[in-house]
Amino acid sequence: MKNRRDTVNPWLSISAADYEGHMGSPGVRQLEFLSRVFGGLMREFEPESVVVLGCATGNGFEHIEGGRVRRLVGLDINPEYLDVCRTRYGENIPGLELVRANFVSFDLEAASIDFVHAALFFEYVDPAAAVEKISRWLKPLGILAVVLQLPNDSCGTVSETVFTSLKALEPTIRLVDPALFARLVREHGFSELRSARETLASGKEFFLGVYRFESAQG
Ligand SMILES: C[S@@+](CC[C@H](N)C(=O)[O-])C[C@H]1O[C@@H](n2cnc3c(N)ncnc32)[C@H](O)[C@@H]1O
Repeated sequence: MKNRRDTVNPWLSISAADYEGHMGSPGVRQLEFLSRVFGGLMREFEPESVVVLGCATGNGFEHIEGGRVRRLVGLDINPEYLDVCRTRYGENIPGLELVRANFVSFDLEAASIDFVHAALFFEYVDPAAAVEKISRWLKPLGILAVVLQLPNDSCGTVSETVFTSLKALEPTIRLVDPALFARLVREHGFSELRSARETLASGKEFFLGVYRFESAQG
């Protein structure tokens, strides 16, 4: 039976073509940025097991091909995005597991994952519950990397493009304050390896945080 939360999730009303059209449009250019960030992290940490939360159509997965990754779990709520991702990467990434689920009801074996990547994902889930869940999945010294959208008065939370279906996200998107996020991860046994901010040509600003899971807290 279909979960009621899924039937109302606005991401289900946005086609893959609209999603990529919006994220890749000249005034937004977020696909390019997010792919670069993911590629840099894969080269730096060389993980063997990776979870990508909100993987959508697999932006950045080209950086996995031929690398050290043995298991890549891509989670997304939108089945069409995963179909596109499977068509693009299913044959070239051994160990690719695409899971169509709501994060809220998704789980993995404890202490089984080297690297969790969550780019523009925490905006759609409960951050405290998500960090707690991720801390259970990560092996000791595993890595959590996040990209958070920062507030910007001159651009709307969802940028204006011709792809108006994206406007469905406006009532649900909740920006996450990086300072609060840093406290949250500390409380769950992570230490910060680094953080940075990047402003795109559109004027939109993003926060990148990389954290290492040291140990479960008390
Ligand atoms: C802004 S996109 C992510 C961009 C992508 N990570 C990248 O690097 O290009 C957010 C994604 O999260 C997915 N998503 C949002 N809420 C979700 C949930 N509760 N469970 C699973 N996936 C979710 C959406 O379907 C969408 O594909």
